[in-house]
Amino acid sequence: MPTKIGLLALKGGVSKSTISRALAVELARSGLSVRIADLDVLQGSQVDWHRDRLGAGLSPTPAVQLHPDLGDALAHANGADVLVFDGPARADRETVAIAKSCDLVVIPAGAALDDLRPAVRVAHSLVKAGIPAARIICALSRISTDTEAEAARGFLTEAGYRVAEGYLPERASYRVAQNSGRAVTEVSAPTLRAAAERVIQSIIDALPE
Ligand SMILES: Nc1ncnc2c1ncn2[C@@H]1O[C@H](COP(=O)(O)OP(=O)(O)O)[C@@H](O)[C@H]1O
Ligand SMILES: [Mg+2]
Repeated sequence: MPTKIGLLALKGGVSKSTISRALAVELARSGLSVRIADLDVLQGSQVDWHRDRLGAGLSPTPAVQLHPDLGDALAHANGADVLVFDGPARADRETVAIAKSCDLVVIPAGAALDDLRPAVRVAHSLVKAGIPAARIICALSRISTDTEAEAARGFLTEAGYRVAEGYLPERASYRVAQNSGRAVTEVSAPTLRAAAERVIQSIIDALPE
């Protein structure tokens, strides 16, 4: 049985794909066999990124496959150590089932209330469906300032959820890196790389033993 991590959100554009790639790359770097199960069939952005990554000759390169649903993703886990579910663009009726199958659910959130409220809403809906809050972690991305990050962290903590350490600032360099098949933990700027590594490591540390 692979360890399963799910990136889920009510909204699109909150960094689900960005964080799932970086998690997959960093877990693979530690020697694990990692697969990304892309459940965003309409966009399939992980498949494109995977092609770019292979084309750029980068390693490690986690396997990526597009799946129509959770059942198909589980059926094709193929002996992987870790399965990272990159959730559908928006939460749908399968979101609870995906979360239930996961050892850890990661909910990315930005700093605006328009991002934070849906993050809390999806977390609450998972808890209501029986998923322990301890199996959920939020991760801040597309943040502009430390002050903004702290306010967002306070909002999510107050709502009863853990938040990964640090945050991904909103930076064009992260997009540039991903455009060339890299993960945000592989950007060339050392401070941005360190910021991404901190968030990703904190999520990895939250995985149950
Ligand atoms: N911290 C960030 N700084 C700059 N751009 C970002 C950041 N996080 C994500 N992006 C960009 O925002 C867009 C949406 O991110 P993505 O990870 O695809 O979100 P989702 O999978 O939740 O829809 C992508 O173009 C991505 O490159
Ligand atoms: Mg996506």
